[in-house]
Amino acid sequence: MSRVLLLPLDFLAAVDSWFKVLLPKLYPWLYHNGGNIISIQVENEYGSYKACDFTYMRHLAGLFRALLGDRILLFTTDGPEGLKCGSLQGLYTTVDFGPADNMTKIFALLRKYEPHGPLVNSEYYTGWLDYWGQNHSMRSISAVTKGLENMLKLGASVNMYMFHGGTNFGYWNGADDKGRYLPITTSYDYDAPISEAGDPTPKLFALRNVISEFQEIPLGPLPPPSPKMMFGPLTLHLDGDLLTFLDFLCPRGPIRSILPMTFEAVKQDFGFMLYRTYLTYTVSEPTQFWVPNNGVHDRAYVMVDGVFQGVLERNMRHQLFLMGNIGATLDILLENMGRLSFGSNSSDFKGLLEPPVLGQTVLTQWLMFPLKVDKLVKTWFPLELPRSSHPQVPSGPTFYSTTFPILGEGGDTFLFLPGWTKGQVWINGFNLGRYWTRQGPQQTLYVPRPLLFFGGALNKITLLELENVPPEPKIQFLDKPILNSTLHKTYIYSLSADTQNPSEPMELSGH
Ligand SMILES: *[C@@H]1O[C@H](CO)[C@@H](O)[C@H](O)[C@H]1NC(C)=O
Ligand SMILES: *[C@@H]1O[C@H](CO)[C@@H](O)[C@H](O)[C@H]1NC(C)=O
Ligand SMILES: *[C@@H]1O[C@H](CO)[C@@H](O)[C@H](O)[C@H]1NC(C)=O
Ligand SMILES: *[C@@H]1O[C@H](CO)[C@@H](O)[C@H](O)[C@H]1NC(C)=O
Repeated sequence: MSRVLLLPLDFLAAVDSWFKVLLPKLYPWLYHNGGNIISIQVENEYGSYKACDFTYMRHLAGLFRALLGDRILLFTTDGPEGLKCGSLQGLYTTVDFGPADNMTKIFALLRKYEPHGPLVNSEYYTGWLDYWGQNHSMRSISAVTKGLENMLKLGASVNMYMFHGGTNFGYWNGADDKGRYLPITTSYDYDAPISEAGDPTPKLFALRNVISEFQEIPLGPLPPPSPKMMFGPLTLHLDGDLLTFLDFLCPRGPIRSILPMTFEAVKQDFGFMLYRTYLTYTVSEPTQFWVPNNGVHDRAYVMVDGVFQGVLERNMRHQLFLMGNIGATLDILLENMGRLSFGSNSSDFKGLLEPPVLGQTVLTQWLMFPLKVDKLVKTWFPLELPRSSHPQVPSGPTFYSTTFPILGEGGDTFLFLPGWTKGQVWINGFNLGRYWTRQGPQQTLYVPRPLLFFGGALNKITLLELENVPPEPKIQFLDKPILNSTLHKTYIYSLSADTQNPSEPMELSGH
């Protein structure tokens, strides 16, 4: 097995070289240098990582002091359980918690680490993030305002996480380890006081009211919400399946190895990699195909001679049944669905972590194609490639696209992909992120207006659908997000051709 091991010293060298560039840039902006930075956080919730390595924390504290001087207040942030391993003398200890937690108890605990000075909640949870396949997270306005009020009454200092959640564009979503791997959605709206699109929400005004009881708030109007637009539906056209574009997606050709290598071993930081081998004997009966030790990180799309066979998924779907003649091409497209970004105590390598097994045979002699999907989509835009003609509705990883003008002033919009399964979507070459309509809860992707062209210019939308295309390959742009439809219930706007008169959302059963 070929894996990249990052030794602690390599890690520290990378940390040092990063901060030696970053911190000198911040130095002129420290408060006592005439800037507006009053304090700087060292690490983030390090106490939740099981290493509990004070030597590491001392190294960081020393590095920050050496680069920033003695006058700036340095602090740490941890949850109540993380205070023990995350705090360090010389760094001001702060704690983070949400409205449902017991403030009295947590601040009393904080006092054990920081007997004097202000009580600080450095991440007060105004909402929460979403995971694919789970319900949309919400925190009620009353709970969030009540919690803030209680802290301000104590004279505590509060930083809101999130004040504005935003979007995990491209491949940038993280993932959590809650006993199993849980990837976070593209939207990071977070039910925060400022919406994903940057607009004030009722929660913002309610929090502002609470703050106004304790201190004067600035006079004058808030910026209004940005204009939103509704547009479509548009029909997408088939460009061809992913395998057709392999020469463009991996112009340097494949890497060869007896056993499969991880993404890290071939320096494929994000996105997708195709693993290919050829059957060395004929498999005439449906035969179990699987990857031992839950070795698919994180999702695999399997094709035999270009025909889609199904999906394997980390912790979820472990086997398929395959047939094929001697010499048949077995392709496995691996998707990295996002890095573990909290509390993990082990490295999370991506790709095939173990050689796949077909029946009793361990499959070897692999070709690995690290794919430059974004580069292809960008260079392809606004170029038109000849469309491949496909007799039936294809399945498996497939590109779809269309071009379209937008008349008028336009605005921000939300891309809705009804009936599509799972994939990645680009607007004018910009990677908007992952969609997973079949899974939810996120149903629309935020499209900021600056990504679009208005007037006569053509816009191009490109989808890499990884599984199944709806019978009518349409998309629509909505003027409101839909972030709360789970597996159980999908709210879908009717795709009537009448776009002047958008219909109300209607509830469909089924998925
Ligand atoms: C919060 O913690 C305090 C101190 O431990 C305890 O006295 C109180 O009952 C707790 N409140 C709730 C609602 O659990
Ligand atoms: C998600 O929401 C549905 C519908 O409201 C509910 O039945 C289900 O119990 C919720 N699931 C979880 C894990 O909270
Ligand atoms: C992290 O460590 C705990 C305790 O040692 C273990 O139970 C858990 O499986 C580990 N998690 C991962 C992702 O390795
Ligand atoms: C989703 O949110 C919308 C808008 O807030 C609401 O009208 C709708 O009832 C919600 N749907 C579900 C399934 O919770």
